[in-house]
Amino acid sequence: MPKSFKNKTAYITGGSSGIGLALAKILATLGADILLVARSAQRLQAAQRTVERTRQSDRQRIATLSLDVSNHVQVYEKMRAAVADFGAPDILILSAGINTAADHFENITPEMFTEVMNVNVNGVRTPIHALLGPMKAKRGHVVILSSAAALFGMFGYTAYAASKGALMGFAESLRYELAPLKMPLTVVFPPEVDTPMNETEAKTLPPQARAVKNMGGLLTPEFTAKEIVRAIQKKSYWCVPGRRTRFLYLMHRLSNGFLSRTVTDLVIRRAIGNETAKPG
Ligand SMILES: NC(=O)c1ccc[n+]([C@@H]2O[C@H](COP(=O)([O-])OP(=O)(O)OC[C@H]3O[C@@H](n4cnc5c(N)ncnc54)[C@H](OP(=O)(O)O)[C@@H]3O)[C@@H](O)[C@H]2O)c1
Repeated sequence: MPKSFKNKTAYITGGSSGIGLALAKILATLGADILLVARSAQRLQAAQRTVERTRQSDRQRIATLSLDVSNHVQVYEKMRAAVADFGAPDILILSAGINTAADHFENITPEMFTEVMNVNVNGVRTPIHALLGPMKAKRGHVVILSSAAALFGMFGYTAYAASKGALMGFAESLRYELAPLKMPLTVVFPPEVDTPMNETEAKTLPPQARAVKNMGGLLTPEFTAKEIVRAIQKKSYWCVPGRRTRFLYLMHRLSNGFLSRTVTDLVIRRAIGNETAKPG
């Protein structure tokens, strides 16, 4: 990964954990100044110490900003102050996201659905809206974390896939507006990645979903982050981390969804069979 990010500033929402933190570590290694954004100040401070250990030079600034991306008043106020203090981002990575509604659709309340949509969609839309003006002069790069769930759908993911699918439509549209400004946009569709999000999700994830997710394989946050950094360096619009996911997506596209739906239906039927066969 040769290209340097020296004198570049990266803002990373969700930078205190998982994929966002792994991205921060790589970008710090490559010379970037980094602003980590998330809610918990304690987790942000721990992440800051971790990222500082990977930076190239003590002159690189690794700072934190505590805010809730779904609170637009907070985002506009705090991002304005961050630009004044830290400078506008050359790279804005939108990695903050939740899946607190991984369950059968019947069990998902309006409040659960709204929370996921609010954090995952408005929590991407508002930071970009707040920073677009200051980023224009720098021809800044916007990086949006969607999910493979937006490409294929997923049992038990009605709320999450709706939010990540919304990001796909959002990115397709925003790309047309950013291209004339020479501002690159990358949208990322990771399969399952081994992060704390998965631990939260596992508490309510139906076994059918577990069986389907096993088909895609499990990536590490470090591997995923490397592929995303490569996409940033190449200014790629579309980034699907992991060979297996790229292959499954190719099959999905070539068969107009027929192959992936047939195989997934089969895996789900088997998982239901296994569940009903369990004693007691
Ligand atoms: N892990 C996967 O399997 C997977 C697969 C595909 C796509 N993705 C996407 O990749 C992104 C990163 O996921 P991850 O697995 O790295 O998750 P993670 O380890 O749970 O990290 C999520 C990050 O987002 C922050 N966050 C959550 N809600 C927030 C809010 N309202 N305001 C500000 N920050 C908030 C968290 O910090 P605080 O809680 O302190 O705010 C944390 O820093 C997400 O958008 C996720 O949907 C993940």
